[in-house]
Amino acid sequence: MSRSRRGGGRTRTPRGSAAKRDQVRLKTARGRKASSTRWLSRQLNDPFVARAKKAGYRSRAAFKLTELDDRFRFLRAGARVVDLGAAPGGWTQVAVERAGRGNVIAVDVSPMDPVAGALVVSADILDGSAIKTILGATERGVDVVLSDMAPASTGHRSTDHLRIVALAEAAFDVACRILRPHGVFVAKVYQGGSERELLAAMKAAFRMVKHAKPVASRRESAETYVIAVDFRQSGFEA
Ligand SMILES: C[S@@+](CC[C@H](N)C(=O)[O-])C[C@H]1O[C@@H](n2cnc3c(N)ncnc32)[C@H](O)[C@@H]1O
Repeated sequence: MSRSRRGGGRTRTPRGSAAKRDQVRLKTARGRKASSTRWLSRQLNDPFVARAKKAGYRSRAAFKLTELDDRFRFLRAGARVVDLGAAPGGWTQVAVERAGRGNVIAVDVSPMDPVAGALVVSADILDGSAIKTILGATERGVDVVLSDMAPASTGHRSTDHLRIVALAEAAFDVACRILRPHGVFVAKVYQGGSERELLAAMKAAFRMVKHAKPVASRRESAETYVIAVDFRQSGFEA
């Protein structure tokens, strides 16, 4: 299947005075918290939200994956892909467009509407039984494991950070169990320090590990992505 570039292409953001002029200003409404007003205002003024809507993507996150794949080229046609933390489904849509229908398994603990061409699996990655479900759906192994998983924020910085690292570690564990030789693992991590051990383990398991922060990833967010290429410890035959 050819690699579609629907909604993809170069990732640009309007900047400067024109962007400022077009911004929607929100007044604080009675009954709405200041934090909700800030979130709403950010959504209304976010060019990626508008682009995602226009392109038919379920989330602005779709542009993070298109940019990462444009750069590192891991979603080749026919690749088998597992997308962890897939809801609402922007990454899954991009993965189906690029890898092809029937090649993508989307996993999330939250409910997710079906995506045409993908298998949606409901599972909590932190629950030991999730791996059995995923292994059952990926008998011959997969070529790419994606993880955009993020926990619901508690508002407590260090608790949130620990939960984020736990999710990245769980995703890495899944990747090590289902990736085929030369497979690729792409995961969201947060700059902050305690993922150092995880990075060391990734460097041992893959030939190359790179970091990238896509343009669609908000500048003020500590999130970044690791792209680990050429898995060397697969239990599957090459
Ligand atoms: C930022 S969203 C993912 C957005 C998605 N990549 C997209 O393009 O629409 C993070 C997701 O991680 C999921 N998640 C968090 N903890 C999880 C867990 N333990 N197991 C599975 N999914 C989890 C959340 O339910 C949420 O849907």
